[in-house]
Amino acid sequence: MEDELIRIKNNAISMILDTNDPKELEEIKLQFLGRNGKLTAAMKKLPKINPSMRKEVGILANEVKETIEDAIKDKTHETKTLHTKANTKKIDVTNPGIKPPLGHLHPITQAISEISSIFERIGFTRVRYPEVEWDWYSFGALNFPEGHPARDDWETFFIDTKPSAKYGPMLLTPHTSSGQIREMENNKPPIRMLNIAKTFRRQSDVSHTPVFHQFETLFVAEKASITDLKGVLDYFTKAYFGHDRESRIRPYHFEFTEPSFEVDVSCGICKGKGCKLCKEGWLEMGGAGMVHPNVLKNAGIDPTKYSGFASGWGVERVLMMKEGLEIDDLRLLYSNKLDFLEQF
Ligand code: PHE
Repeated sequence: MEDELIRIKNNAISMILDTNDPKELEEIKLQFLGRNGKLTAAMKKLPKINPSMRKEVGILANEVKETIEDAIKDKTHETKTLHTKANTKKIDVTNPGIKPPLGHLHPITQAISEISSIFERIGFTRVRYPEVEWDWYSFGALNFPEGHPARDDWETFFIDTKPSAKYGPMLLTPHTSSGQIREMENNKPPIRMLNIAKTFRRQSDVSHTPVFHQFETLFVAEKASITDLKGVLDYFTKAYFGHDRESRIRPYHFEFTEPSFEVDVSCGICKGKGCKLCKEGWLEMGGAGMVHPNVLKNAGIDPTKYSGFASGWGVERVLMMKEGLEIDDLRLLYSNKLDFLEQF
């Protein structure tokens, strides 16, 4: 009899633990504790057993009954909370997932790739040359006589190391024009170079940072002319700033170009009429000119046979002009301030 009671208990408990369905639980209850249930049937046999054992077996039977009732009670509670939770928070598995936040390229990187693709369309190839350079490539070969005061205009950082006997002191490139010499040394005309690199100057205030970027074009061919230069300037102006913008060239002076120009782009706000932003209708973009014969010669190209043009502008500058940005402090561009960078 005791064995039978224990078996009934184990059987009932394992069935109760196995289910999460309230209906099934109800059936289990009936199956064991109902009027015709297994435990009820066993208990009905109590009066028939030996009186000396009856009391003990009776206690056991009651314990079994309580254990089964408790287990059913616990399970009923458990399934109820399980089901109400599922009801209040239904999961629609067909909903699209939550997208992780996606960043984008830095505005300067975006400008560099846009500039590259504009020039690549007309046959220029993007190159990179050393940003730690010799004086010869940044100044000497570009027709700056040694000790010439014009060198001061480039506010150069010099590296504290032994100068080269052939190329002079080591420095950080203050402009991308050093790439002209490197390109002509390594290639025969026709040359169509686009050199985009970091440039370094001893300057730091709200509109100048010690590190910035320039993009330099160099075109060398048998009959390169100012018309070719103007055509490329116009093409870039319209492709980068928009079709309603014009470019113009003004006489200027650089050691390495003759004649030399400064290039302006018509103001995007007043379209050249003159407004608060531009004053006279034009925004200054940067330098350009026909490559000086001495520069061609220094780079090993015959100036009687070939001519060329070059231009060098600031990436940050054209980016700000394009966006119509009036950044109070240029250093913001390098600041990692997301509320600023996210606008691009
Ligand atoms: N290197 C000049 C600068 O940094 C720009 C320039 C490049 C001018 C090529 C003429 C030709 O200001």
